[in-house]
Amino acid sequence: FRYLKYAWRLTYVSAIAGSIYLAYGVYELRNPDEQLVPDPSKKNLVILGSGWGAVSLLKKLDTENYNVTVISPRNYFLFTPLLPSCTTGTVEHRSIMEPIRSIIRHKKAAVKFYEAEATKIDPERKTVLINDNSDIKGDTSTTEVPYDMLVISVGAENATFGIPGVREHSCFLKEIGDAQQIRKKIMDCVETATFKDQTPEEVERLLHMVVVGGGPTGVEFAGELQDFFDQDIKKWVPEISDKFRVTLIEALPNVLPMFSKQLIDYTESTFKEEKITIKTKTAVKKVTEKTVEAEATGPDGKKVTEVMPYGLLVWATGNAVRPIVKDLMSQIPAQKDSRRGLAVNEYLVVQGTKDIWATGDCAVAGYAPTAQVASQEGAFLARLFNNMAKSEAVEAKIAELSQTLNLQPGDTAAIAKEIETHEKQLRRIKDIKPFHYTHQGSLAYIGSERAVADVSWLNGNFATGGQLTYLFWRSAYLSMCFSTRNRVLVVLDWLKSKAFGRDVSRE
Ligand code: FAD
Ligand code: NAI
Repeated sequence: FRYLKYAWRLTYVSAIAGSIYLAYGVYELRNPDEQLVPDPSKKNLVILGSGWGAVSLLKKLDTENYNVTVISPRNYFLFTPLLPSCTTGTVEHRSIMEPIRSIIRHKKAAVKFYEAEATKIDPERKTVLINDNSDIKGDTSTTEVPYDMLVISVGAENATFGIPGVREHSCFLKEIGDAQQIRKKIMDCVETATFKDQTPEEVERLLHMVVVGGGPTGVEFAGELQDFFDQDIKKWVPEISDKFRVTLIEALPNVLPMFSKQLIDYTESTFKEEKITIKTKTAVKKVTEKTVEAEATGPDGKKVTEVMPYGLLVWATGNAVRPIVKDLMSQIPAQKDSRRGLAVNEYLVVQGTKDIWATGDCAVAGYAPTAQVASQEGAFLARLFNNMAKSEAVEAKIAELSQTLNLQPGDTAAIAKEIETHEKQLRRIKDIKPFHYTHQGSLAYIGSERAVADVSWLNGNFATGGQLTYLFWRSAYLSMCFSTRNRVLVVLDWLKSKAFGRDVSRE
């Protein structure tokens, strides 16, 4: 009984200490310290983008060493791994957004932010042309920003391969607006299908949800959508319960090509159980307002054209190069053979340029276009830039000491020793190893509270799928969220959708 009393007291004291710590954390978050003002003698470091690459660089960068300017049409960081959950309301969109203003306000030295799209980079004049493409514009909405150092982290846009009708009729899944549009359209299809006197063919079309692309985006979205239907829509709109269908179309022989064979099979069998139809070896060739036209290759190698009526079409066939990146590549002869983005060297310097670096989906460094790669590249650049600033400071100190040495010939030994110490320090700082990517594994949600994971662990690979993996998936993504605020909001969303179901109102 005495031990129980001590345990109770300990719990009580820890709960109070925990609450004080949390309250202090929130206070600090809401009341950031005064920041150092920009120093015109420092170099101008311009960062394009506010995604994984850019924000990971910002997070680790000692901003007092540079005059930092961030330019992005999006004034927030988006935690993309949970974007598929926003399409059905499992997670609310604001829970996975972190305002860039809050990120930069917590840096030691002030950072400028311009909400704008960079439209042209001039590597000769070292300038970036920017354009405010938001709804509200002032008298000035286009201007130039000079840079001494430039980091390009503008990501990629959606690949359509020039297939007719894709841009006009399908939804993408890359940005918050895309997820909101999908969420609206799902319920619009459901409500329109139940409209009085709707013909059976039209009901069937409207409730056919087609996803093109069997990469992780397409698979995760298909899983979330089927969950939404099975766990919520079916309850509130029972009359459509046998008519709602999800079809995933993939040009290759299987979905999730980056996962091991065992997990591909597991995903395909789970989809079968969930009643999601997978059409592999089927390439979409044309999209119209109400149909998808695809070419399927049969087991005998014969090609058959299939026309599928759809209500909602989500297009997830990977990445394409952004116009600003294409334009810069066309200005640099060393980039003429690069197709998928800016070819960079092992220090992420854009090949054929000086003082320009690139990270993430717009850079070609030999890795897959993932958040993991982009964030490790951003963190690498922060270390590189911090070191460059330190070495410049040490070089200046050595130059100053050498001058003193010349002027005061009497006291040479002590000064020479000090120079030697600084030179040693300089060698250590300058010895930066090239960028090395550490793959921590791949994770994907596949619906009905199951996930697949190919994880690198203790120098080996560990492939697993199922409900335990789903808990791992949730805890891994929760820990990767940008801030405590994001983590708290995501957990509350998960609890809310579990307790009350997802909201089926159409905003
Ligand atoms: P982004 O994060 O896309 O950021 C690009 C930034 O540049 C944005 O802020 C954009 O507004 C800005 N920008 C665009 N054009 C311009 C311009 N002209 N001028 C200035 N700024 C510009 N990867 C994983 O590793 N794990 C996952 O679970 C995962 N899930 C994903 C789920 C979805 C639905 C999607 C779409 C992707 C997912 N990814 C995942 C991939 C990952 O999101 C990308 O690889 C990552 O976002 C790349 O980071 P980035 O910084 O290069 O680009
Ligand atoms: P992706 O490039 O991985 O997959 C696109 C798929 O679409 C390919 O399998 C391709 O064969 C198929 N395709 C292309 N054209 C087609 C057509 N006309 N008809 C039918 N199928 C067609 O693209 P995705 O899924 O958008 O992912 C982009 C990047 O983001 C990848 O690097 C991926 O690893 C990463 N990502 C990672 C996630 C995770 O780790 N959980 C989640 C989402 C994205």
